[in-house]
Amino acid sequence: MSCHEEVDCGRRNLLVATAAVGGVAGVVTAVPFVASMLPSERAKSAGAPVEVDISKLASGQMLTVEWRGKPVWIINRTPEMLASLKKTDGKVSDPKSEKGMQPAYCKNETRSIKPEILVAVGICTHLGCSPSEKFKTGAESGVAADWPGGFFCPCHGSTFDLAGRVYKSMPAPDNLEIPPHMYLGDAKIVIGEDKDKKA
Ligand code: FES
Repeated sequence: MSCHEEVDCGRRNLLVATAAVGGVAGVVTAVPFVASMLPSERAKSAGAPVEVDISKLASGQMLTVEWRGKPVWIINRTPEMLASLKKTDGKVSDPKSEKGMQPAYCKNETRSIKPEILVAVGICTHLGCSPSEKFKTGAESGVAADWPGGFFCPCHGSTFDLAGRVYKSMPAPDNLEIPPHMYLGDAKIVIGEDKDKKA
């Protein structure tokens, strides 16, 4: 994985520095901040699963946690955000995620276990930059007048919808990766482990 733009590198470094100093809340996000619990630095460096409390993640919010050195996004999608996926279906290059960028239990129209909660690795599948969230719709997003919300990679302009599916004719070849994950109750997600223990 490489980092190809100063802005992006800064963001990645901030994520790492935050986790290393604080050791508790490794969260970097442009939208409302929600604290989460992370394991020790030693456990993280060994690739341990990360437990995340999403009880305070309101509809429309996103949080970022670090797992195996990668930013993982958790987004609580609104009904409008979910509805946008039907509109983007014909515009993305792999609408059914047939390239297998997600576990089998997320191979569905929302690419998630619970329809509203998207868990995705926030690394562009082109050259590894961190895309930015662009949840505002239309011209206000700064992406396009008909933008339905999603993610924009500042390095070479790849765009992704709110299921992390890459639009057609973009530099990025694949949808964003969905990591193995599972729920412990309603409000806790374990990233890096699933019922099949495949991570
Ligand atoms: S790294 Fe090139 S478009 Fe994202």
